[in-house]
Amino acid sequence: MKLNKLKIGKTETSGNLLLAPMADVTNLAFRLLCRQNGADLTYTEMISADALLNENRKSILKGLSSPEDRPFGVQLVGSSPEKLREAALFIEDEYKPELIDVNMGCPAKRIIGTGCGSALLNSQKLVYEIISELTGVLKTPVTAKIRILRSEEKTLEIARLIEEAGASALTVHGRRAEQMYSENSDLTAIRAVKQELSIPVIANGDIRDEESAEAALDFTGCDGLMIGRAAMGNPFIFRRIRHYLETGERLELDRQVRQLEDFENYIALLEKYDLQTSTNLRMHAHWFTKGLHGSRQIREKINNLKDGKAMIELIKDFSREKY
Ligand SMILES: Cc1cc2nc3c(=O)[nH]c(=O)nc-3n(C[C@H](O)[C@H](O)[C@H](O)COP(=O)(O)O)c2cc1C
Repeated sequence: MKLNKLKIGKTETSGNLLLAPMADVTNLAFRLLCRQNGADLTYTEMISADALLNENRKSILKGLSSPEDRPFGVQLVGSSPEKLREAALFIEDEYKPELIDVNMGCPAKRIIGTGCGSALLNSQKLVYEIISELTGVLKTPVTAKIRILRSEEKTLEIARLIEEAGASALTVHGRRAEQMYSENSDLTAIRAVKQELSIPVIANGDIRDEESAEAALDFTGCDGLMIGRAAMGNPFIFRRIRHYLETGERLELDRQVRQLEDFENYIALLEKYDLQTSTNLRMHAHWFTKGLHGSRQIREKINNLKDGKAMIELIKDFSREKY
């Protein structure tokens, strides 16, 4: 039994599997689906503090969360401690999330170009200021998500500063920003951070199945695992890993049936929360049909469809052809 409880701030979860924040992916419907499949804690995709303060809040925050979406963290991206504080206070007041996370790892050009995401890691002073500004005013526990730096020493310095500034947990993606997604996530670097800090450390990067989950937990000794890309179109990954960590046995299921069911649930949740127009349905449809019988033809046809129900009928037609 390797599925441990996780305690971050006042939030205690029965397991330690987290859904990673992912732009255009981890909308409310998708997070609820991962939760139903056993994710213990989920994060929203990053929300720009600048945009929240200067643009149409209503549209940025449409369908951000719901009462069933607990416990959840809201991730903010920004570079100004004052703006992040203002945005975080607004989020705390309006949504009362269990956690507020600061994105210190995004390597995308449009994000680092404005000094945000992984660009923050170039300034220890700013990292410290941001986290202490937030922990100083918020009632909500603050977490941060970083990538590793070129030297282990620098990674540990940043990690220590984040802890000293009052963060309640730290997620470490074991790649440097300039690597983007190339090479493997470095478990040794993540383990070094875990050994250095007293707050919970969450390992992230390349957890894609039962073995990689078990290996990451065993090797790093981390308090939790955060899963990103492997959950896209595949929220069932949480159930599989959870079951394996609890019992040492694998869950075997018909992929065709399961993926279709998950996609149907996803569409139903989009409808329930009126999110059809604000999420990229086709992209999700592609992920949910990956590896299915006739997936190439399904995808080509999906590109001409706008409606989720029509997509489901299409996939069902292909499934029927198979049997
Ligand atoms: C499509 C996509 C969007 C992402 N958006 C965010 C984001 O908004 N905030 C963030 O901290 N990381 C973001 N990430 C990074 C993931 O949270 C995670 O750190 C990374 O994918 C490595 O984990 P994995 O190997 O489990 O995917 C994103 C990744 C992907 C693939």
